[in-house]
Amino acid sequence: MAKKQVLPYKDKKSSKKTQVRQMFDGISPQYDLMNRIISGGIDIKWRKNVVSMLIEKQPEKILDVATGTGDLAIALLQTKATEIIGIDISEGMLDIGKQKVRNNQWDQKIKMQIGDSENIDYPDDYFDAATVAFGVRNFENLDKGLSEILRVLRPGGDLIILETAVPNNYLLRQFYHLYTQFIMPVIGNMFSKDKSAYQYLSDSAAAFPFGKAFNNILAKNGFIEIEDIPQTLGVASIYRAQKPEK
Ligand SMILES: C[S@@+](CC[C@H](N)C(=O)[O-])C[C@H]1O[C@@H](n2cnc3c(N)ncnc32)[C@H](O)[C@@H]1O
Repeated sequence: MAKKQVLPYKDKKSSKKTQVRQMFDGISPQYDLMNRIISGGIDIKWRKNVVSMLIEKQPEKILDVATGTGDLAIALLQTKATEIIGIDISEGMLDIGKQKVRNNQWDQKIKMQIGDSENIDYPDDYFDAATVAFGVRNFENLDKGLSEILRVLRPGGDLIILETAVPNNYLLRQFYHLYTQFIMPVIGNMFSKDKSAYQYLSDSAAAFPFGKAFNNILAKNGFIEIEDIPQTLGVASIYRAQKPEK
């Protein structure tokens, strides 16, 4: 039986994509601050780990899907790539990111554009690498998003995904559920007027496949050399995968 979709606003009839866009547009002004508070700043370290996996590959063109306010796209400057494209469906999130890029004069290398993971506006085999941080669980159609990323990667190109996970250890898992189900929404409500948003972020994290289950989804969508690397007691995971050589 197909799993029920986790939606930001359970009482609305609109598609997941419309709801996700609306939710991120709404929370975009507080998004960066909330990320730091909720993760205790550890999200910065996780993004650095993503970047260090790509540095050795020396990619020139990188696509950061679901780039949001651009923190990963900005961290990717460390790779010395000459073209970093960040795409996202939320104009509100992109506006914050564009401001950061402009203020620091990174706009020669980083371009932030409206774009949907499920219909990427770039030719086949264009990018040397692609990244997604905390984006895949928000896609309306995960398979479509992953197969589009595969299409725009060059043969042998790398995909690195950072996503929330659930710890395997029983005691840690109880603590994780307590934190994400009770503490996180309360912190979210303190800073954001959208009460559903942080509940959605917790619920979607708890329901999203991780570890081997997500590796299998990557394999089903045509990726090879798949590996998952748990981060910080298993509360997040980094997945690396490749597009096969022709
Ligand atoms: C939790 S934020 C992550 C932002 C950023 N990558 C980070 O690490 O902070 C998830 C982002 O995914 C975007 N998103 C959701 N579905 C998308 C899609 N189909 N295509 C592109 N972006 C999408 C949302 O608009 C939102 O900005």
